[in-house]
Amino acid sequence: MNKAVRKAVIAGNWKMNKTPSEAKALIEEMKPLVKDADCDVVLCVPFIDIPAAVEAAKGSNIHIGAENIHYKESGAYTGEVSAAMLKEAGVEYVVIGHSERRTYFGETDQTVNLRTLAALNAGFKAIICVGETLEQRELGYTETLLKYQTKMALTNVTEDQLKNVIIAYEPVWAIGTGVTASADQADEGNGFVRAAIAEAYGKDAAERVTVQYGGSMNAKNADELVSKVNVDGGLIGGASLKAVDFSVIVKAASK
Ligand code: PGA
Repeated sequence: MNKAVRKAVIAGNWKMNKTPSEAKALIEEMKPLVKDADCDVVLCVPFIDIPAAVEAAKGSNIHIGAENIHYKESGAYTGEVSAAMLKEAGVEYVVIGHSERRTYFGETDQTVNLRTLAALNAGFKAIICVGETLEQRELGYTETLLKYQTKMALTNVTEDQLKNVIIAYEPVWAIGTGVTASADQADEGNGFVRAAIAEAYGKDAAERVTVQYGGSMNAKNADELVSKVNVDGGLIGGASLKAVDFSVIVKAASK
């Protein structure tokens, strides 16, 4: 295990929160707090907030991401946003396959794979979310499920494209619930993800992929979580809506 070959990435996932003016204000508040980060700092924001967020983050170390991407170049896909649109808006990262998309919006392992390919082919960094439900965990399927979701998401992704892949292990039972996986559970889950990448691309390639933990990561538990060998930062929901809390997590990942 060589954590030193990977850069930690702390990414906020704002979900359906903040208007454009609120986004601007929050980023202005965050900028001085995270400027000395020794990890990559990303904020994934609602589509409508992207122009304001990109403008507010200009000249800082904050990178802006989207929360989804469509896999077709253009056409009759009401309500969707294409890679070219996101590129022109200044987006660098894209979240794909979040469990809320899988649960509420019919996202499947196949569409997650198509969105991943669209994002990587357009040169974005893809933050792909995988994670088991409580029922799957209790039935003993965590490893099988995480490996399956990881491999499905990466179907037809080249080894060269892996450099732009980040996987976020987010146990569904820990998202927005205040229940965090223990640091050991997070490390184990992330290890299953890395093992799946190793099975598909070899151990060296897998060692270079950033694997985040997500699910009620906060200012109090971040230190312990990111100290684990397989935890290369986090995907942060609720705590990314508070500038100070988010900056504490960024500092934890910068040690
Ligand atoms: P949470 O969300 O930090 O609010 O649990 C994490 C996520 O859904 O990415």
